[in-house]
Parts: sequence; structure tokens; C-alpha cells
Amino acid sequence: MRASHAHLDHLLAALTLDDKVRLVQGADFWTTAPIPSIGLRAMTLSDGPAGVRGPRWDERLPSLNLPSGSALGASWDEELAERYGVASAVEARRKGVDIVLGPTINLHRSPLGGRHFECLSEDPELSGRIGAAYVRGLQANGVAATPKHYVANDSETDRFTVDVRVDERALRELYLAPFERAVQAGAWGMMSAYNAVNSVTMTESDLLESPLNDEWGFDGVVISDWTAVRSLAAVPAAQDLAMPGPHTSWSELGSAVRDGSVDEADLDRKVLRILLLAERVGALGDREPMPQAEFDGVAFAREASAAGSVLLANDGMLPLDVATIRSVAVIGEPARSPRTQGGGSATVIPEQVVSPLDALRMAMPDADVRFALGAEVSHTMAELPLTQLTNPITGEPGVRISFADSGGDELFADDRRSSSLVWFGGDAPLARSATLTVSTIFTPAADGEIELGFASSNHAAMSIDGSIVIAGRPAVEGMDLGAAFLQPPVLSADVTVERGVPIELSIVFSIDGGDGLPLDALSVAVGTVPKRGDADALIERAARLAAESDVAVVVVGTSTEVESEGYDRSDLDLPGTQDDLVRAVVAANPRTVVVVNAGAPVLLPWADHAAAVIVSYFGGQEFGPALADILVGAVEPGGRLPTTWPRALHDVPVVEVVPVDGTLTYDEGIHVGYRAWLRAETAPAFPFGHGLGYTDWSWTSIDRDGDDLVVGLVNSGRRRGKHVVQVYAERADSAVERPVRWLIGFAVVTAEASEGVTCRVAIDPRRLAHWDDGWRLEQGAFTLRVGGSVDHLPLSLSWESTPEGERNNRDA
Ligand code: BGC
Repeated sequence: MRASHAHLDHLLAALTLDDKVRLVQGADFWTTAPIPSIGLRAMTLSDGPAGVRGPRWDERLPSLNLPSGSALGASWDEELAERYGVASAVEARRKGVDIVLGPTINLHRSPLGGRHFECLSEDPELSGRIGAAYVRGLQANGVAATPKHYVANDSETDRFTVDVRVDERALRELYLAPFERAVQAGAWGMMSAYNAVNSVTMTESDLLESPLNDEWGFDGVVISDWTAVRSLAAVPAAQDLAMPGPHTSWSELGSAVRDGSVDEADLDRKVLRILLLAERVGALGDREPMPQAEFDGVAFAREASAAGSVLLANDGMLPLDVATIRSVAVIGEPARSPRTQGGGSATVIPEQVVSPLDALRMAMPDADVRFALGAEVSHTMAELPLTQLTNPITGEPGVRISFADSGGDELFADDRRSSSLVWFGGDAPLARSATLTVSTIFTPAADGEIELGFASSNHAAMSIDGSIVIAGRPAVEGMDLGAAFLQPPVLSADVTVERGVPIELSIVFSIDGGDGLPLDALSVAVGTVPKRGDADALIERAARLAAESDVAVVVVGTSTEVESEGYDRSDLDLPGTQDDLVRAVVAANPRTVVVVNAGAPVLLPWADHAAAVIVSYFGGQEFGPALADILVGAVEPGGRLPTTWPRALHDVPVVEVVPVDGTLTYDEGIHVGYRAWLRAETAPAFPFGHGLGYTDWSWTSIDRDGDDLVVGLVNSGRRRGKHVVQVYAERADSAVERPVRWLIGFAVVTAEASEGVTCRVAIDPRRLAHWDDGWRLEQGAFTLRVGGSVDHLPLSLSWESTPEGERNNRDA
């Protein structure tokens, strides 16, 4: 460890072997073991990273739902990312959480990656700096960050077992680089990934020691991804904490130390790190807790969503001229039911979500804002609306749940306000239960046939008014276990109902653990599967509404079926008939803005014909209000693409995410993202770094001042605005293979109309160096190019790199 912590050595000496063994394994799903004799309390870990769920997955304990990682990356704004960390720390403290499992700083290696929404960008400099800022914001408020997943966990297919083959240079220059920045920011935790890298599973990998500890000086705790520790072989590796507990692959650790097969010094080292972490988060001794920061999380979520929204195209339609607009057609399923976050372990339960439709109605009270569905996006089961549910015991809105043992005796009961229920840890006695019964009285809102059912990876029987209508175990097909858990398969039946006539629903789920999922995890839902409507009629109705309105706003997006943790995408298309919908609406009304509600790139084949296109990513709970702010011009869309958006899947340079015989080879080496596009000389639909605001900029000057690049630009438009100054390096005559150009720095500037600004970007020679068994800096000149995207770089300068030795002499 970096510093000496003699007082921790004393505590270590006071611990028995059993204490130490307990300390390096989770006490349960989300906590570490307390050891009161040395003043150590349990530490609580929680998923995020776009908000903090807390140790309970429970609608009664809601969380702030921040915009997705991809939206944060799109802000290119370190100051905002730091406040994102502060917002998360405030949430963590409110929920008694000491350690947040984030930020997710794996790279957008391929747009097909299913968990892309959670990661920040395709570029290590951007991901590294935004991730580091998040870490600082969190930890400045006494909450540990756990950047994840170390390392090369950049896609989802077979993520538990895949062996990623990646060369040393790509590892150093791309995949490890954001983690290095997080360590420089002082990260107290780090999550080791499920996958293997170059044949060794990450919890046993030498990469945990080198470069993480020995080179970068990490002195925090390496926390395993959930169940990623496979054996005692992870003990001599620098894997510190096996999660979740209490049953881990280290259950034999005590006897292994006793019989000498594991060195106690390896265990002691882990314990010391865990004690240091405990001290840092205030879990050791009786230190006063840090004062809690004052923070308006909801206002921040709104600001961050606008800051991470990218205006891809605008023919001048935006911002809307609110005074002259009498009618607005709002179209699309996500306009009414937006995706505010990606699916999977990152899920939080927001207290309130304001849809784009409602937000626009509020923002344009004098206009007639009408809605048409236009296309169906999601065909997964929807939970039953709370307003139509009555708990049979309390008479309140909701459901009654009851866990019973094999003799039928009730062990635990609760009254819940949702028909979609997840136990991921928590207080239900899952291990001792044989069944879970969910009962409710459901009052249909319309007459007719509905498809009613349940979602579960377990066997279940559903009865209506006392008679069983379906029983069975929904088939889990080809999905990863985590996905089967977080999005369990469905069994459903057609049921004829009458409006206002209540039916008694009871679903008995068996708890058999037979699905191979970790103990203490259960996920079930009761709901309806949407019936497929007439797609042409939906489009026609939407186009008619658009034609009758002054302007149209179409919101399109991905569904949880195609974009979530646990699986990758097989194509980049918008699901269903959404492309046809956009084409029809654009044809019906040329004053159409299209809003893309997806966590990662999708193809926009109609983009050249829409008056304006905005990418909002998964915008968090305030996505609607933030979008309305942008549309009416109260704020500017502040984002720049953190990832290249392709025109067609066959243009995408890196598409291999499916392992072959268990191996996924990063054949492209250092050519990922825009680096790969530049090498292939293929033009994407929208390049890395691209994004418009509501003002114009002209680039005026570029100079060198010591190690800083000084860039001048003028806001030549008519309103205040933000721009992102992006600095790329080129090395035309390099002795080594290089990307055509690569990002080495960036800065956010703001200026009033007609105002000129200069901004300084420090050029760290490391950003010019390449890895060749060590960092090497080629002598001679690099060309630095500056502008507003990787494809638009009006300024350039020749930059003589200063060798490390000379810099040190000069500084001395
Ligand atoms: C995910 C992690 C997450 C953990 C706990 C894993 O499946 O990969 O990112 O923190 O579960 O929920």
C-alpha cells in the first residue's frame, strides 16, 4: 500500500484467523462482515451507477434515477461528472451505502455491446477523465467508488466465461487506461470482472497486481463482480473481497491457511486494505460522519439530461418558436413511457418519472399537444398498474406477498405496491422458503381479452378466482443467468375480462434455486403482455396527427428486449416499425423533430430527411422535462457524441462480440471506435465528438504556451452557448503503427453571444506516447488538430514533444 498504516497493523494483530476469513467474504448480498471488537461495522455496497439503488430492490425505497453513463459521457463535462458523483454520494448516504459499485468504465468497443448504455464512451481519454471526475465527486463526500469491470468486459455474450484475447498495447492504451485515471483520482475500490483476459479469469489475474497495485499505486480493495471469485486461486492474486456472501468460493479459506496451502500473508494484505477502506468510509472507529452535502438531485438530473443530449442535426427548426405554435403532435411509445435507464443490475426505482408528453404539455400550455402511439416498441410483460390493484388483506392499492416453508407455514409476509418484485439480497427468507405467493385483486380498465401472466425463471401456478389458469416453468432460452434473472421469461394466457369487474389473482411461485442463480436472489412479476396492434393503422393515425399539427415530435427508442445487461445486440435497428413511422411522419409534416431514446447507437436511415434529430440516451427520471427544456429553447442540448454513430451495420469496423470456442479476440488491436473508422476510411452517419448547440462558433487561434495548448474561439451566434474543444494528435511518419488520430485532451467552454474565449488544454506527453513494453515517447513533432469533432478540425499546430527527462530538469 502507498502509505504506512501502523494503526491498522495493530488492528490486524487483534484479529483471529476466523475474523480475517470472514472479512474478505461478503456477510450477505450487499454487506461486509462487522467485527465489533475492533470497532468495525458492516459496510454496505450498492449498485448504481446511474443513481444508487441501496441494499433493497423495493418500490417503497425509491432512488434518484440519473441519466445513463452514455449520456454522462456525452456531456464531455468533468465538472458535471463530478457533481454526478456528488449526487450519487448524497443518495448513498441517504440509503446507508458506503460503497457504490461504479462508475462503469469499460469501453464502447463495439456498438453491439448490450451494456453500452452504462459505459461512458469509445475513447479512453474521455472515459478516463469523466470516470475520474465521478470518482472524485463520490469520494469527496465519504463514499467509495468501485470503477468496474477490470478489465476488458466490453460485451455481454458469455460474459461469465469468455476469454478475451487482447494484446498488451491495446490493453494499456485503451482498456486499462480509464482504470489508471480512476486510480489517479484516488479510487478506494475496483471491481474485478467475470471474464478472463489472455486465458486467466480476472479474479486470479496478474493484472490485479500489475499494473494496478505496483505501477499505479492502488491501495484500495479489489471487490469481485458478483460470484466472479471461482476458487482459492484468487487468494494469492490481488483479489481482496469475494462478493456476495455468505457462500463464496473461499469458504475453505480458513482451513487452507491452516494447512499451509494458502499463505496467511496474502490474507493479511487483503484485511489491511479492507480496514483502510473502512476507515475511509467512516466504518472503523467512532469518527464523526462527514457532513452531508446539500444537493437538489432532481434539478441536477434535469440539468444532466440536457447536458448529455446530443443535437445531431437541425435545419433551424429548433428551438421551437413557442409563441407561434398552436399544435404539437407527440408521437411514439417512448414519448409516453420513456426508457429512463438501461436494464439489469444498474436498475434503480425512481420516485417519479415525467414523460416527454407530460413535460411538453407543461412547457407549452397554450398549444394543443396531442399524442399518437405510432408504433409498438416493447413486447415484454408490463406490470399491472398500481391503480388497478387492491391488496386483499389491507384493502390498499398493491399486492400481498407471502413466503412459506415446505409445510405451508408462512415465514414472511409483506404488502407491496408493485407487481414486479425483485429480491437481490433483502430480508425475505429465500433460502428457507419453498413458495412465494403473490395475491391481489385486479380491476380491469376495459372489456375484452387480455394476455395475463407471470414472469419467472421458477415454476409457478396462476389462479383466477380460485381456479388455476396456467402452471409451468417458463423456458429460459440462451440467455445469461443474470439476464434470465433480471428479465425472467413469461408464461401467459388469454383471459376475458370486464371493465370494472374485479378478479382475484393468486400466483404461487416455487422457490427451488434450481436455476443456478445465486442464493438470495428471486425475481418475479405479474402482468399483461401487450397484444400486437395493426402496425399500418398505428402509423397512419400518427401521420394524420402530424399532418394536422404545426410541428411533430417523434420519440423512438430501443426496448429492454434488445438493449440490457446480460446480452448483446444482433443488429443496430430500432425495434419494430419505428423507422417506417418516422418516414411517414416526416413525409406528413416536414417540421418534425426526432428524439432517440436509446442507450447506444442505433441506425437512423431517415436522418437526412428529419428537420432535427436529438439523441437523448437513457435520460434519467427527468428526461421528459429536460427534453422539453431543449425543445422550447430554455436550455441548449449540451452533448457531443462519445461514440461514433454508424450509417449501416456493415460499415461498423468492430462487430465481433460473440466468442468462438469461448474466446473473443480483439483482432482490431488499438483500432477501436473512431480510430477504426478512420483506418477503414468509412464515413459514419455521425462522427465521434459531433453535436450541435443553439449557437455558432468560429475557431480563431491556436498557440503553444509551455505544456498548454491555448485555443481561441468566438461564439458567433445569437445566444449564450457551450462548446467542447477537442484536441487530437496525429503522427504522420510514426515509426510504429498509430491511429490516424486520437483524442489527447478536451475542454468545455461557454460564451455569451459574440464573445470570444480562450481555453487552455494541458498536453500531457503520456497522451502522445505509445506502449511498447513500457511507455515510449517518439521524438520529434506531432500534429495537434483542434475542433468540434474528430471530423471537423479547423485548427492545427506542430507540437514538439518534450521528453520526460527534460521536463523533469526544467521543473526542478
Ligand atoms: C454486474 C455488476 C453488478 C453486480 C451486482 C453483476 O452481474 O456485472 O456490475 O455490480 O452484478 O449487482
